[in-house]
Amino acid sequence: MLLLRRCHSLTRFGPLNTQRHQVAPGVASCAARLWSSSEDQRSHQRTHGPSWRHALAGLLAGTGAVLAYGLHHHKAEQANTIRVQTIENTSALPTFTQEEVTRHRSLQDGVWVTYKGGVYDITEFVAMHPGGDKILLAAGGDLEPFWALYAVHKQEHVLEILSEYKVGELSAEDLKKQQAVQTSDPYSSDPKRHPVLRINSLKPFNAEPPPEILSDSFITPSAIFFKRNHLPVPQVDPASYELHVAGLHGGVLSLSLEELKTRFPKHTVTATLQCAGNRRSEMNKVKQVKGLNWGIAAISNATWSGARLRDVLLAAGYRPDVAQWASHVHFEGLDKDATGTAYAASIPLNKAVSEEGDVLLAYEMNGEDLPADHGYPVRVVVPGIVGARNVKWLGKIIVSAEESTSHWQQNDYKGFSPGTDWDNVDFKSAPAIQELPIQSAITTPADGTVVDRSVNELTVKGYAWSGGGREVVRVDVSLDGGKTWQVAQLRSSETGQAPEPSPPLGRAWAWKLWEITAPLPPEAQELEIVCKAVDNSYNMQPDTIPPIWNLRGVLSNAWHRVKVKINEDESKK
Ligand code: MTE
Repeated sequence: MLLLRRCHSLTRFGPLNTQRHQVAPGVASCAARLWSSSEDQRSHQRTHGPSWRHALAGLLAGTGAVLAYGLHHHKAEQANTIRVQTIENTSALPTFTQEEVTRHRSLQDGVWVTYKGGVYDITEFVAMHPGGDKILLAAGGDLEPFWALYAVHKQEHVLEILSEYKVGELSAEDLKKQQAVQTSDPYSSDPKRHPVLRINSLKPFNAEPPPEILSDSFITPSAIFFKRNHLPVPQVDPASYELHVAGLHGGVLSLSLEELKTRFPKHTVTATLQCAGNRRSEMNKVKQVKGLNWGIAAISNATWSGARLRDVLLAAGYRPDVAQWASHVHFEGLDKDATGTAYAASIPLNKAVSEEGDVLLAYEMNGEDLPADHGYPVRVVVPGIVGARNVKWLGKIIVSAEESTSHWQQNDYKGFSPGTDWDNVDFKSAPAIQELPIQSAITTPADGTVVDRSVNELTVKGYAWSGGGREVVRVDVSLDGGKTWQVAQLRSSETGQAPEPSPPLGRAWAWKLWEITAPLPPEAQELEIVCKAVDNSYNMQPDTIPPIWNLRGVLSNAWHRVKVKINEDESKK
């Protein structure tokens, strides 16, 4: 890798070496070593397969791409000797026509691409591309349309990587032509979103509500429900929509939206969805992780209505003996990347067919049609299970002996030891996250709030939830960093008025909101407010982050801590 990069510096910035075939004698041996180095690179990929394979399968989509370039970046950092030339630094490189660029569209002829008027020979990078040979889709052409889809590429360090491969400029005439072709933005038909949402990434759209309004309502209004998209929101025509159910003896069952609504009883479930990356930002403070920097609000609670997955599987030919050969149910979304690969995930068959599992093919959220961002017209709602398996814009269901092979099932959304890093991670060694652990967080007051001593007391609010249908039975709150504790009041309905509904055992799918009002400690000038929840299996949150830190920043559920300053009333002093 190191050698490869050094040679690149030589070949790239040497005056004669703008064509692959014109390697100056002085660098020819280097070029030979360069090739063998990239072989080494490939064999490195084979030997250290998992750490690369997770990215190769990433299809440069959403998290995969963040992860993938994070990985490249990480490797690049290790190779510490990279000579970085910025995209703006055009220097005295030769000019090429589009026709010349187009001639380089294979590993044999060299792989050239253009980007914003620059010409790049990325032949050697193809083997290192974290998204695999998908990069060849752009060979001989412009990167812009691909980067428009995978906007994660538009980051300084990705541009820096690209700049290393610059060999020339595109002729002014061809650049003009290129600019004249309107590259359509695949996100242009994404729905309008509520301005209060805190955006973590615009394309694809990922956003969470401000925590203080999250705990205002037991049922999160759809407009502010957190949104987690890996790709552009697909536009689905409800009239022609079809859901295909495959893998069972009866062949493929295809259902229109109308059939899904009328052939099966409508079932309603109140369930909390939480992204595996919720509270990742706290892990990031301990040591950097790869992924969207979610705060504490990548979690929300809604009522979902639709057909039971179990009923649909029965109609498609499911019988108990299917369990003798099948163990998983796959879901494929209608959101696809440039290669036509859909977002997909799977859940265990027993969860899918269990009468108590309450898995829904939901077409309503909070009593209305599913909003576009949340999977219109149909999504899977898998109560108690990590958000990633709740596939939106559902197109296909497949009963299978194997887990989904999708990137998001195999090479993402898995937990690892704090000692595992990008050099030794083996994604095959860890199970896909399904049920999430116990979680709670303080939504108000916000960290850094200043309260006046004259108010005498402080109200603290938050949410608590546990995966797998385990019910939160208690939330403990401390105002002194965890030395002393008080029990908060739990609320499991909109009003919180007695009698509170109590969920059937093992089917506590909805969060509980909690609240406590406590006197301000007389001497304290600063409070460290802490919360921790307990579920009915007596699972509790870990007290600190370092022992649960992991390279992807998932499953972040340590005690939540918020600092508040007390403003002494000067006149009383
Ligand atoms: N389904 C599809 N088809 N595409 C996606 O990008 N994101 C998943 C899941 N289902 C996703 C998907 C993830 S990671 C999460 S956390 C939830 O959707 C988020 O659901 P929401 O946007 O309705 O909150």
